[in-house]
Amino acid sequence: METETRPDSRLDPIGVFDSGIGGLTVAAALSRLLPSETIFYIGDTARVPYGGKSRKTVERYSVEIGGLLLAEQAKIIVVACNTASALAVPRLKQIFNVPIQDVVAPGAAVAVRTTRSKRVGVVGTRATIASGAYERAIQALDPTIEVFSAPCPLLVPLIEEGMFNDSITDQVLARYLQPLLEQSIDTLVLGCTHYPLARQAIARAAGENVTLVDSAENCALAVQALLKANSLAAPSDQLGHLNVALTDATEGFLRTAERALNLQIGDVELRSVQAG
Ligand code: DGL
Repeated sequence: METETRPDSRLDPIGVFDSGIGGLTVAAALSRLLPSETIFYIGDTARVPYGGKSRKTVERYSVEIGGLLLAEQAKIIVVACNTASALAVPRLKQIFNVPIQDVVAPGAAVAVRTTRSKRVGVVGTRATIASGAYERAIQALDPTIEVFSAPCPLLVPLIEEGMFNDSITDQVLARYLQPLLEQSIDTLVLGCTHYPLARQAIARAAGENVTLVDSAENCALAVQALLKANSLAAPSDQLGHLNVALTDATEGFLRTAERALNLQIGDVELRSVQAG
């Protein structure tokens, strides 16, 4: 009699999504830390940016992209977008039956460990900053920390134009960071998955007394722990790879990010979502 073999979900991919390409900073950190894991990344380039949209819309988009990841047999969903992490994770947890990792909690935890003066700055999209998600996450860990936040809506387009080292980006950063620096912050959370690409420019503008916290590396560590806790880690003799799908065939910034992050991305697949 034939015995039915149950598929081994440890071999399934880690599903990662972002509103666009910025979440590749998280995918790159995952590939470095977890080389045995295959990653299926979807960038919702048809509907980017999420950063100026309402909670309802960001929830709907995130649920739709989460559904596309589950259709790829994702064993876990990584929300590699701060805006979706700040606004849509409770909804995703209600709907989907796989572990879900956001980028806000890991970044907040590192900020709490990093600050000495207990004065932390956070930069992100309008929607992320307006949600107060970082303040809540940081103050839940240490209520004595003061959090100063600034939305930086011009940064994503500058980064998408590849203007990582450009005097215009420096001026924009100086303007955005001034009110935070006036508060004598010693730690600055890069609360948007695009921002690590402009890390050097942000470090220049923030000055040497401010430590930057990047959620990508810390999110990868949280994913590693979550896989272990759910017995979902791929066997160490596997060699994983990165698959990238977009919801619109806009590859310009993808190739900029590929170079900046030293990623090997082959052919990009297309996935359709309902027009928003
Ligand atoms: N990826 C988004 C984030 O991390 C930034 C881009 C957008 O506004 O959609 O918040």
